[in-house]
Amino acid sequence: MQATPTAARASSVAIAAVSVYLGGWGIYYAIQDTARRAAIRSRRRKYPLQPRPAGLVPTRARSASVASTASTSEEHVEGSEELPNARVVERASPKSADVHQHMRWYGAASAIEHQSIRSRFAPLTILGRYLNPFAEWREVGAWEFLYWKVIYTPLRYPSRLVWDGGLAKDLESEEGRKKVNNVLPVKRLDRQKLWGHEEGWEVVSSDASLPPPCAKATGTTFTWIGQSTCLVQMNGVNILTDPVFSPQPIKSIFSPTRMRPPPCQIEDLIEERGRIDIVLISHNHFDHIDVSVIPKLSPETCWVVPSGVRDLLERHGVLPEQITELEWWEQSMADVEVPARNTSGTVSHVDRKVTVNAVPAMHWTGRDLLGVNRSLWNSYVVRVGGGSQDEPGLREASFFFCCDSGYSPLMFSSIGRALGPIDVAAVPIGSYMPLWHMSIQHCSPSDAVQMALDVGARQAFGTHWGTWSMSDEAWDEPPKDLGKALDEQGLSRKYFRTLPFGETVDVIIHGK
Ligand SMILES: *[C@@H]1O[C@H](CO)[C@@H](O)[C@H](O)[C@H]1NC(C)=O
Ligand SMILES: *[C@@H]1O[C@H](CO)[C@@H](O)[C@H](O)[C@H]1NC(C)=O
Repeated sequence: MQATPTAARASSVAIAAVSVYLGGWGIYYAIQDTARRAAIRSRRRKYPLQPRPAGLVPTRARSASVASTASTSEEHVEGSEELPNARVVERASPKSADVHQHMRWYGAASAIEHQSIRSRFAPLTILGRYLNPFAEWREVGAWEFLYWKVIYTPLRYPSRLVWDGGLAKDLESEEGRKKVNNVLPVKRLDRQKLWGHEEGWEVVSSDASLPPPCAKATGTTFTWIGQSTCLVQMNGVNILTDPVFSPQPIKSIFSPTRMRPPPCQIEDLIEERGRIDIVLISHNHFDHIDVSVIPKLSPETCWVVPSGVRDLLERHGVLPEQITELEWWEQSMADVEVPARNTSGTVSHVDRKVTVNAVPAMHWTGRDLLGVNRSLWNSYVVRVGGGSQDEPGLREASFFFCCDSGYSPLMFSSIGRALGPIDVAAVPIGSYMPLWHMSIQHCSPSDAVQMALDVGARQAFGTHWGTWSMSDEAWDEPPKDLGKALDEQGLSRKYFRTLPFGETVDVIIHGK
C-alpha cells in the first residue's frame, strides 16, 4: 500500500508546480502589460501626433473610374483639397507638374515633429523583452493561442484543426487545379528583365577580378519569391528580404509545407550578379529567416537586421562586420559598387548610396520559448540613389518593406510623415483569420491597404500569403479580400497588386 500515498504526493506536487508556473506567468504578464500601458499613456501626453489627413491618398492610387467622375485624367487625385496646407491639385490641368504636390504631406515632418514621432514610437523594453508601445495592441498571451487552436477553431470549423487552407481539396479536381494555377502561378525568372540577358548566358567565372556577366545599373524591379521573400533591384543594387526558399521553414510534422514550389533557389539569384548586396530581415520567426540560406550567401553581403538577431547570424557563419543591427528610427548608410555596362559593352562600376531606415511594426518575435521578444521586429524604408558620378538617367528610388504587423493608424502614418512617400511597398496580406486573434499581429488585406496609403506608397505588392497556411483563412482568400478592400475605397486594383511567384515587374519611379 506504498504506491497510493506516493502517487497522491506526486500529483499534488505536479499540480502545485503547474499552478506556480501559470501563476508566475500571470503575474509576469500583468506587470509587463501595466508598465506597457503606463508608457503608452505618458508618451501620448508628451508627444502628441496627427494621423494622415482624411482623404489623402498617394498619386495614382485612385481608380480611374472614380477619378473620371471629377476629371478625365487618371492622374487626378481626389481628396487632396482636404489637406490643410497642401496646394489644391488643379482640376483643369491635372497633367501638370503640380499633380505631385499633394504628396508633400508625406515626408514633410519638421525637426520637432520628427523628434516627437521617434519618441512616441521608440522601442520599449520591459524586463529585458521588447513590447509593442501602440494603443492598438492588447496582451496576447499563450492562452489566447491555445483558446484559438483547442476550442475556437475545433468547435467552429472542425475540418480546420490541421488546415492547409483547403488547398489539397482543390488539387483533387481538374477544375480546382486550374484555379490553383490561376491564382498562384509559379513563373520562371525573367533573366532579361532582371539582369539584362537571356537564359543560357554563360557565367564565365566567379573570379572577382573579371567583369560580372550582367550589368543593369538603373531602374527598379520587384519580384515576389514567396511569403515575405522579395528581390528588389534598385539602381543596380540587389536587395533580398526575409530569405526563405525551403519547402518547410521548420522541419517538423507540425509545420506546414509550401503550397507551391518556389520559383527559384537562392543560387539562381546569386550566380548572375555574383552576390546579393543587402539582405533585410524583418524579424526572427521561422517563415522569415531560413538558416539554411545563410551560408549560401556571399561573405560580402550586408545584413541589416533588428536588434537581437546578430547572434543567430553569427552562429551560421556571417562575419560580424557584415551585420548591422538596427532599432526603430535608426539609420544605416552604405556605398555599394554596382557593375554598369556602357553602350559599347564595356563593364565598369558605378557607386550607389544606400540608406536603410528601420521603422516600427506591431508584432513580436521568438524562435523558442525562452527567446520570446528578446529581439526586435522592424519594417524598413530603403532609398537608393547615385554616388558621386553624374548620371543623368538616374532617379533615387525608395522601398518600404513591411514587417508582419497589426494595423495602427498613427504609427503607420507617422512612418509616412517622417520618411514617405515611397515608390514601392511590399505589404503582408495573409494570416489574418480569425480576425479577433490574428489581425492584431498580421494585418488583414483591408488593413494592408490602409498601411500602404499611410506610408505614402505609390505602388504596393501583397506578400505573406499563398505560401504556408498558418491561420484559418482559405488559401485564395487574401487576394479576394484585397480586391474588395480596394473597391470599397475607390482605389485602383493596379495600385495594390498580388503577383505570380517569380514574376518580375518594372516599377515606374515617378517624378520627385
Ligand atoms: C511578447 O511581446 C508581445 C507584444 O508586445 C506581448 O504581447 C507578449 O506578452 C510578449 N511575450 C513575452 C513572453 O514577453
Ligand atoms: C565605355 O567604357 C570604356 C572603359 O571605361 C571606354 O573606354 C569607352 O569609351 C566607353 N564607351 C562609351 C560609348 O562610353
